[in-house]
Amino acid sequence: MSKKGRETMRRITRTPLRTPARTLAAFGAVLALAVSASACGSSEDPNTVGGPNDPSNPNNPSNPNDPNAPPAQQTPEEQVKQILDARKADYGEALRTASLKLRDELPSLAEIKQIEAAADDAAKKVVYEKLVDDMIASPKFAAIMVKFWKDTFRTGQVGALQMGAANRDTAANFAAQIVVDSRAYSELLTASTNTCPTFDPATSTFTPASCAVGATAGPTAGVLTDPGILSQYFANMAFRRVRFIQETFACSKFPAEYSATPKPLGNGTFTGAFPYESITGKVNTPNAKIDFQDTSAVICANCHVNLNRVAPMFTNYDAKGFLTAASQVEVPVPGNPKAQRIDYLPAAEGYAWRAGKPVTDIPTLGAAIAADPEVGRCAVNRMWNYAMSRGDIVNDLATIPNAVTEPYVKDFAANGQKLKETIRGIFKSEDFVKF
Ligand code: HEC
Repeated sequence: MSKKGRETMRRITRTPLRTPARTLAAFGAVLALAVSASACGSSEDPNTVGGPNDPSNPNNPSNPNDPNAPPAQQTPEEQVKQILDARKADYGEALRTASLKLRDELPSLAEIKQIEAAADDAAKKVVYEKLVDDMIASPKFAAIMVKFWKDTFRTGQVGALQMGAANRDTAANFAAQIVVDSRAYSELLTASTNTCPTFDPATSTFTPASCAVGATAGPTAGVLTDPGILSQYFANMAFRRVRFIQETFACSKFPAEYSATPKPLGNGTFTGAFPYESITGKVNTPNAKIDFQDTSAVICANCHVNLNRVAPMFTNYDAKGFLTAASQVEVPVPGNPKAQRIDYLPAAEGYAWRAGKPVTDIPTLGAAIAADPEVGRCAVNRMWNYAMSRGDIVNDLATIPNAVTEPYVKDFAANGQKLKETIRGIFKSEDFVKF
């Protein structure tokens, strides 16, 4: 490999490592400092001569003669602010990272020179922001979004599409199209037509198309009824499909929600927001195939009060992701019977997204999910993590304090859930351009 090629490689690979050393790292570092300072170690007596409390020690941070000494007794919040304020805008560096993330290539020499030629930071900011707008408007942004959503959904068509199989590309194509065309993010969960577009990377165009249909026609609700997704997450009792929805759109693992009044139960604590008795188990259904009311080891109901209210809506989709007239998913007990509604819920119990959010079918489920404020926050946080190279919010535990993305979450709700504007805002933010 040529030296130049290697340089380029190194610069590209270094980018993801460098960027996390931003806002959140700063929070972490300061909090760690604050903790270690307050954890009083006995080995170093601060009152010894030359120790940190000795005013004659020039290294003493509270030495009144040191003009650089920080004011004594800063709160952790003040320390965080000080570190954040100490960052400097670097529009050249920001341009390089933005260019890689928004169009998968380094900035051109002409673009770099435009930033360099600008007289001061204010002028550089104007040039930089115009270039970000250009990148988001460029055809390459569409391919970037397709890739982002394939990573997020963990889907992707490998090799040619086999006869009768579902296309694993269409869900990511649809999500990308919603962003690129500035449609409301809620459509990802509620759209009732053309949810399986194709994407031509050569021309960066999406061509609207309906999803393939199997033996039985069914409802369409954004990617919730995408055959590629339903086949990718096919598993016993359809629980993996529900887990996909929870982790992808609510950005957290099960349990999905917690009661305000947890109760000791069996060998644990019941924390669910629906009554423990409201799902199928030995207490209310002596011949239950799976005892979701078991409390001997873990409290199954903590997660399954929610899981069991969604999964039965997805049982009739087969391993290829197509709707059929009967249940296709198995109960993992001897004989592997197909799961029926009674295996999840007593007959009188209805479906729901969350406590207080009843639904009746997949389209009403999609609407309830789309209306959940946590779901909007999750979409914004995923984009924040993408910009800041922070990995997957659920699997890498790359969670974000609410305060960090709150302004974007508010804008997102106010601007009709246009994720493209969120991306634009994040790439122009102080947190992105300061290092
Ligand atoms: C912390 C949350 C949580 C708890 C507690 C929990 N489950 Fe689950 N359960 C899940 C999730 C999520 C899945 C889907 C996993 C997947 O397929 O990726 C699942 C899947 C299952 C499955 C299908 C597994 C398979 O063979 O594919 C059964 C059966 C099940 N759970 C029963 C139980 C029982 C019984 C208990 C209590 C002993 C329990 N679960 C406790 C979250 C939970």
